[in-house]
Amino acid sequence: MAKQKTTVGTIDNAVLAFTAGRDVELDQVLVEVDCIGTAAHVAMLSKMPVKPRLITEEERGQVVEGLVEIIGLARKGKFRIQLADQDVHLAVERTLTAKLGDLGKKVHTCRSRNDQVAVDLRLYAKQQLLETLEETAALAAALVAFGRKHEAVPMVGRTHMQPGMPSSVGLWATAHAESLLDDCEGLLHAYALNDQCPLGSAASYGVPLPIDRQLVSDLLGFARPTHNVLYANNGRGKMETVVLGAMAQVMLTLSRLAQDFMLFTMPEFAYFRLPAEFCTGSSIMPQKQNPDVCELVRAKASRVKAAELGVYDLVKGSPTGYNRDLQEAKELFMEGIATTRACLRILAPMVAGTQVDRQKLADGFTPDVFATDRALELVGEGMPFRDAYHHVKENLHELERIDPVAAIRRKTHLGAPMGLDWAYFRHRTNGVEAFVRKEHKAFSKAVSRLLGTEYPAP
Ligand code: ARG
Repeated sequence: MAKQKTTVGTIDNAVLAFTAGRDVELDQVLVEVDCIGTAAHVAMLSKMPVKPRLITEEERGQVVEGLVEIIGLARKGKFRIQLADQDVHLAVERTLTAKLGDLGKKVHTCRSRNDQVAVDLRLYAKQQLLETLEETAALAAALVAFGRKHEAVPMVGRTHMQPGMPSSVGLWATAHAESLLDDCEGLLHAYALNDQCPLGSAASYGVPLPIDRQLVSDLLGFARPTHNVLYANNGRGKMETVVLGAMAQVMLTLSRLAQDFMLFTMPEFAYFRLPAEFCTGSSIMPQKQNPDVCELVRAKASRVKAAELGVYDLVKGSPTGYNRDLQEAKELFMEGIATTRACLRILAPMVAGTQVDRQKLADGFTPDVFATDRALELVGEGMPFRDAYHHVKENLHELERIDPVAAIRRKTHLGAPMGLDWAYFRHRTNGVEAFVRKEHKAFSKAVSRLLGTEYPAP
């Protein structure tokens, strides 16, 4: 039976491959955050009030130098996690030890891979949530711009997919924008929950040395440390489901937007035309312009939700304390986030390039679309609503097609087709953008201070 000597014991080769699973490749994404977490941990160790000092200030500098080197290698795609490392944590320790000897062997003092991976994932989630927020706000802004451009373009408002009442393209587009802005609130909530530092919880039960968890949290730019060290580990998996849940809400909005695009670009409607470069052809039918992007967004919404439920299912029966099951959440977590971001990025330019066919939209206005407006006109003349309703219902054939532009111009109350508050949308989008800028800046500042060099590297 072939075996391999690893940092943490001799392991059968097949067992090593099985247990490391996809970590060897997935953890490549975590190299940078793993080094950042280690820099903070070592800075704290160098200040720990024990005699003699565990790590001197000079040694701290040497470790940080080694970590900056690893970050540089990773950026160039030249830092390799080997199977014998099992994961990023031991790959970094191996590299530091090769460079620094005994000093490298000290960095793991008062730490476990359990709290290390937990902090890595939170740092990773932090960055990913900021990018997602920015991309969500950008798509919302694209929809608002589209809606504003076509503010007064009438569009039949539907319920049960059947013609209902006069509406506008502006109302349709900004409905999806507002949904995305609400989704940002979910992302912000996930961001706040995630913004807690689990480092120092070690294997799940703390350590018998005077570590300073608050200092580590501050050095890493977290809002605060998680409190209970056992919860710090139980929180893994829970944090992922919260983040993926917020992502799934974004995808819910995107899927419905995509579905609307598919419906309203059908030749039978032809209200909208997608930019030609966003459509794909058929290998047999020369005329085809298929909305594959929209179909895939709809499908990917299912996958992101499945990722959330996948992690939920992994942890719901998980006993307290670290369990290796958690490793399986990593792939779902990363994939769910990457998928959501890819969908946000592909849709923004598609929305911006979508054409509107005013004539086709106007053609949708059959006289029955004005039935409710007519009933309310009668109410204005003094008739009780239910009587007006019955009067119109019994005389539907008498309904006249009125100018749909005039019809929507009468809808001026809060949030109605002609009562859309553009400043409201701008205010909410700007708020998200400002938050992202502020947090990015604070994180860069904290990490730059920690590494003693500008981060992210210019
Ligand atoms: N790769 C592991 C994970 O993702 C790291 C933690 C390993 N901890 C352990 N006790 N084996 O969970």
